Amino acid sequence: MPTIWICDDEAEKLRYPEKLLRGSGYRVETFSRGADLLKRLETAEAATCDIVLQSVCLPDMDALLLLKQLHGRNPDLPVIFLTGHGTINEAVQAIKEGAYDYITKPFPREKLLGVLERVLDHRRLANENLQLRKELRRGGSRTETMVFRSARFREVYDLTLQVAESDANIMILGESGTGKELIAGTIHANSQRAGRPFVSINCAALPDTLLESQLFGHVRGAFTGAVINQKGLIEEADGGTLFLDEIGDVSPAMQAKLLRVIQEKDFIAVGSTCSKKVDVRFVAATNKDLQREVAEGRFREDLYYRLNVITIDLPPLRQRREEIEPLAQHFLKNCTKRMKKELRGIDKDALQIMLQYDWPGNVRELENVIERAVILARGDTITAALLPIGAQRERPAAPQEQTPLVTLEEVEHRHIEAVLSRTGFHKSRSAEILGISRKTLDRKIAEYGLS
Ligand SMILES: Nc1ncnc2c1ncn2[C@@H]1O[C@H](COP(=O)(O)OP(=O)(O)OP(=O)(O)O)[C@@H](O)[C@H]1O
Ligand SMILES: [Mg+2]
Repeated sequence: MPTIWICDDEAEKLRYPEKLLRGSGYRVETFSRGADLLKRLETAEAATCDIVLQSVCLPDMDALLLLKQLHGRNPDLPVIFLTGHGTINEAVQAIKEGAYDYITKPFPREKLLGVLERVLDHRRLANENLQLRKELRRGGSRTETMVFRSARFREVYDLTLQVAESDANIMILGESGTGKELIAGTIHANSQRAGRPFVSINCAALPDTLLESQLFGHVRGAFTGAVINQKGLIEEADGGTLFLDEIGDVSPAMQAKLLRVIQEKDFIAVGSTCSKKVDVRFVAATNKDLQREVAEGRFREDLYYRLNVITIDLPPLRQRREEIEPLAQHFLKNCTKRMKKELRGIDKDALQIMLQYDWPGNVRELENVIERAVILARGDTITAALLPIGAQRERPAAPQEQTPLVTLEEVEHRHIEAVLSRTGFHKSRSAEILGISRKTLDRKIAEYGLS
């Protein structure tokens, strides 16, 4: 049964809508002072309120101020203004400030019920969309199969399943491409939070202000361009797991803000004055040596200990070579299916090269190498000639003919792409070679759509 809260200055004025709405199957609560309504909003019952009807004239406070405070506490709550004939201007102002609609008194039954139904329909749709978005996110890495054969990785996997059940925050360490995100998804899928959202964010890819509004959300008017209230990822992950990728790249200011959420289990949206409670499990990952970052003062020690209740350390692929072949076969099977190509397998020479190679970009590099080979393959097997690694790498490039003249941006784009490809998408190494920070590289990768 939808619940409507009505706030008007006189009991007399409340009686008519109350009776009308009760008779039409709504649950109704009435308030004759704005302050009473705000107090009610602090209680657990606030979650049941679907719509607020408030008069433009309140005995104890300015109606627009009440609207603002309502939205400060719950930005999504639809508020409808009840106006008399002399107060249309205030009602219009209220719409500008974010009220959903206004109704002029005395309102006919159909008009009032019609507006309420429309609001409820909108809410239902918005909720369904949110649900769908969460489903999409959930469908991410969790459904992927994890392939492993080594005793070392079996230990890692067992530990992952064991800690998944606890609600502890977890830190995943490992070089680029070792499977950190896959492990984070596995933790979520095997936890009690599995039915709730798994939300992931790459902290290195965004500048501070953007990262903050992505994580915490913002209220309308918080900054130029903030035209609507926007929920942050922390709130979207409520009840579920938030994966903070590349946590080692977060600035000191953002570290302080994250610490607050993790410690206090509440947060404040950008531009808001009120905090909100959340229940989120944090899984963080980095390929930096975080202990050194702490020792050298770049990463807060308190945040480090909050996040790092349990550490999962992923070994690089070169330290578990027995996994190269099964992983290669796994990616081959996926790729051929996806690209609808018939390939029998990988020949002996190609396999030999793969087994001897050092895989600085780890599993991700292996995946890319296989995908590239499947695309280029003309015959029915993957041969050594199709691999950009091993002996093939030393082959001198063909002399360049007259190259077409292009913009600097194009050169940058191509060069970054080339470096990434040569390092097997090993981002830290690529950043080092390019002489730019990891953060800048991530931004350029997003900008140029490289992946
Ligand atoms: N054991 C595994 N079995 C199957 N696929 C794997 C395994 N480990 C990694 N992968 C795949 O390799 C790719 C890279 O893994 P993932 O994105 O989890 O690594 P990462 O450590 O987060 O990498 P980066 O540091 O580049 O973000 C993904 O496509 C993932 O599905
Ligand atoms: Mg990752």
